[in-house]
Amino acid sequence: MKDEFVTTALGSALGQVVLADNLAVLRDLADESIDLIYVDPPFNTGRRQVLRRIRTVRDEEGDRTGFQGQRYRTIRVGESGYLDIYDDYLDFLEPRLREFQRVLKRTGSLYFHVDYREVHYCKVLLDAIFGRDCFLNEVIWAYDYGARTKSKWPPKHDNILVFVKDPEEYYFDAEAVERIPYMAPGLVGPEKAARGKLPTDTWWHTIVPTNGAERTGYPNQKPLGILRRIIQASSPPGGLVADFFAGSGTAGAASYELGRRFLMVDNNPEAVEVMARRFAAMVGVEYIGFEPRGLPTCQRQLFAPLP
Ligand SMILES: C[S@@+](CC[C@H](N)C(=O)[O-])C[C@H]1O[C@@H](n2cnc3c(N)ncnc32)[C@H](O)[C@@H]1O
Repeated sequence: MKDEFVTTALGSALGQVVLADNLAVLRDLADESIDLIYVDPPFNTGRRQVLRRIRTVRDEEGDRTGFQGQRYRTIRVGESGYLDIYDDYLDFLEPRLREFQRVLKRTGSLYFHVDYREVHYCKVLLDAIFGRDCFLNEVIWAYDYGARTKSKWPPKHDNILVFVKDPEEYYFDAEAVERIPYMAPGLVGPEKAARGKLPTDTWWHTIVPTNGAERTGYPNQKPLGILRRIIQASSPPGGLVADFFAGSGTAGAASYELGRRFLMVDNNPEAVEVMARRFAAMVGVEYIGFEPRGLPTCQRQLFAPLP
């Protein structure tokens, strides 16, 4: 498997869709081979069934090591719970984040899309892995959709943490980003108003419309507009964009449109079928680990079984 991914990720294919656990794929990728990683991991990892609520007590014979090397014993106190969820989630993420850091080129960036309840834990973990000086931005994607609770400020945003591999060398092309209208165009003069302004770190963008052409039916599909902006700014034309939690393949669709190559990985057979349908009209896409149903025969020949 190693040789296949090393060669194909850097080879001539325009896009690859892989059905596999992302950690296995990541471990087989060459160092510094990817320009941009975008990921939007689910909160409920595949390990949801083993989630359990725990309490720890000091015990020299314990099964965990804590602050200053103290040993602790784990006691299960229930089936689910706040602490345990985060404990498990970060355990799941950590090896993957380490691999992201390894496979990014020196000029590369990671966009880590996360829920407002988890973002602080993830920021601390990413700081430890990438280094605090490699933290570039926290992008706020704000939308306005769905019910509004009256018991608190209705949460209507996601957080996207941006880390770069090397703060001295990272790729960022502000000029390539599609500009947006000024809020008060009358204040800036007609020339500036016509040109529009560069987006800031706060992005207002609708969710994928429930009945629009963009909608694939896959849960938690992210808007193409968000991915376009990320790809325009943080990957060079012709560069390689990877999404290791690809879902419906929004990052792949935007990459193809913008002339970047892509690597999309998901361990859910439904996701890769959605991607195969979404990418059916694209030329030069390889499918690895599954044989897409309903693709024209000329494209199915690119199917390669997992070794
Ligand atoms: C929130 S969805 C991503 C949605 C995507 N950004 C889109 O626009 O459609 C998260 C995806 O991560 C996938 N996933 C979860 N654990 C995975 C793993 N260990 N390896 C690969 N994919 C995984 C899930 O199957 C799911 O499709």
